[in-house]
Amino acid sequence: MKALIVYSTRLGQTRHLAELIAEGIRFSAADVTIKDVTDIKRETDLTGYDIYVFGSSTYHGMMMERMKTFLFLAERAELKGTVGGSFGSFGWSGEAAERIYDTMKNVYGMNMVSGPLMLKGGNVDGGVKVAQSYGKELVSKAAEQG
Ligand SMILES: Cc1cc2nc3c(=O)[nH]c(=O)nc-3n(C[C@H](O)[C@H](O)[C@H](O)COP(=O)(O)O)c2cc1C
Repeated sequence: MKALIVYSTRLGQTRHLAELIAEGIRFSAADVTIKDVTDIKRETDLTGYDIYVFGSSTYHGMMMERMKTFLFLAERAELKGTVGGSFGSFGWSGEAAERIYDTMKNVYGMNMVSGPLMLKGGNVDGGVKVAQSYGKELVSKAAEQG
């Protein structure tokens, strides 16, 4: 089983969260690739995974611009029916992770886990177990799907 995590971050909090989710995925014996959103150049870069996890931190009530651009690119990839989750570090409102989750569910038609994973900036370390569990939940969902 293979998972792809794509993140966008300003100061590294959301990348840290990506790494913790990746640990949870590895504990469940799945392969995981982590990419900065700027490293995804074309929709074929998304080919060949069973699980997709996309994340951005929130600025001014929105996801980062480069994550928005990426979500339009991802619309052209064949993600329908694959397992998905979203995440983001935030300060007080955290819209980014929610909007990404909604796009993956409603636009791409993905098989989403229970909800987005959101951890407050500066408290990502306090959420190690929660983030690892999110990784495990993703793998369980993909295993159920077979
Ligand atoms: C100018 C500015 C605007 C922000 N706007 C929001 C916001 O609207 N909602 C929110 O939840 N957090 C907001 N934040 C907090 C960031 O989301 C938070 O610091 C986060 O941990 C940054 O993660 P990153 O290092 O992955 O970019 C804002 C931070 C800054 C500096």
